[in-house]
Amino acid sequence: MKACQISPRAADGALHFVEFPRPEPGAGEVVVRMRAASLNYRDLLVLDNMYGATTERLIPLSDGAGEIAAIGEGVKGLRIGDRVAGAFYPDWISGPISAQARARGLGGSVDGVLAEHVVLPAHAAIPFPAYLTFEEAATLPCAALTAWNAMTAAHPLRAGETVVLQGSGGVSVMALQFARLMGARVIHLSSSPAKCRRLADMGADETIDYTAELDWDRRVGELTNGNGADLVVEVGGPGTLERSFRAVRVGGSIVSIGFVGGGDGINPRGVIARAIRLIGISVGSCAMFHEMNRAIGLHRLRPVVDEVFPFERAADAYAKLRSGGHFGKLVISI
Ligand SMILES: NC(=O)c1ccc[n+]([C@@H]2O[C@H](COP(=O)([O-])OP(=O)(O)OC[C@H]3O[C@@H](n4cnc5c(N)ncnc54)[C@H](OP(=O)(O)O)[C@@H]3O)[C@@H](O)[C@H]2O)c1
Repeated sequence: MKACQISPRAADGALHFVEFPRPEPGAGEVVVRMRAASLNYRDLLVLDNMYGATTERLIPLSDGAGEIAAIGEGVKGLRIGDRVAGAFYPDWISGPISAQARARGLGGSVDGVLAEHVVLPAHAAIPFPAYLTFEEAATLPCAALTAWNAMTAAHPLRAGETVVLQGSGGVSVMALQFARLMGARVIHLSSSPAKCRRLADMGADETIDYTAELDWDRRVGELTNGNGADLVVEVGGPGTLERSFRAVRVGGSIVSIGFVGGGDGINPRGVIARAIRLIGISVGSCAMFHEMNRAIGLHRLRPVVDEVFPFERAADAYAKLRSGGHFGKLVISI
């Protein structure tokens, strides 16, 4: 089978296409014939050796979808041909995350999904709604599940609450779709009028171009009668966190997810002074993945795929992610 490998420790940005023997499933495992994979911001960190490389060579990417090609002994409930997506943390089945489960993330500390065949524990091969394409389903394991975890577990979002979302990347666009189906009001930040318009078309109640309105936290205050939002889904990190402290209501929540915005210095005074719950999360469990897929299927949501690249042009998908020109998700077909 064909696979793509990187050398994270070299941080040379090179993708190597290699041939491996097709893997066989062990007891309790399945082999998935991957059809599509999607990129996350984390995949740039892995490529650039900013993610704590544990191996010389690694098959990258955490997020993929395909069909079951072989089934190991003792596997129940899955059949050859079933369409599944892999779980980002294959050992996190349910409940709170453990250190052991977190130590094994696909495409980070262990081989990922940018390969024609991938072995997974059967419980980490998650069926997805039948109307989704492989390309759409490949966006679910990290970006969508993180948004789902943020808005159902870390802060269970209620109808009528106000949530602030940041940017038009994978996590935030899916978070907008979930917020809509939960009946929440969305104030969405983005970097251009065109992206703001697109987010508004998707249902964002208010948009703020944070490049034109640098003190966007003040605008959030105005839009919430001076109270602040109930929840900020924080993907900006050090460059946005202090403004998020000021944009959230007393007793509200910030779910801290990422650090795409650059900048340095986190001042926790705002968390303490306003009694905010600042909650760090790491993707989600297999149980959350099943729950999310039920909601997606019921409401027939479709993840937003910006562009699909052929396998041999995987490097172009990385380059587009790095440029930040995408809206939603970048996908590689396999
Ligand atoms: N903790 C977890 O489990 C978890 C899981 C998934 C992702 N993450 C993290 O979450 C972050 C987002 O991931 P992603 O995959 O959605 O990234 P992505 O698809 O690359 O999206 C990044 C987007 O963020 C927006 N952005 C950049 N700087 C910003 C700023 N200062 N303020 C507001 N928005 C800004 C930009 O959109 P606009 O041009 O529209 O502003 C950019 O396109 C990353 O740091 C990633 O590592 C964490």
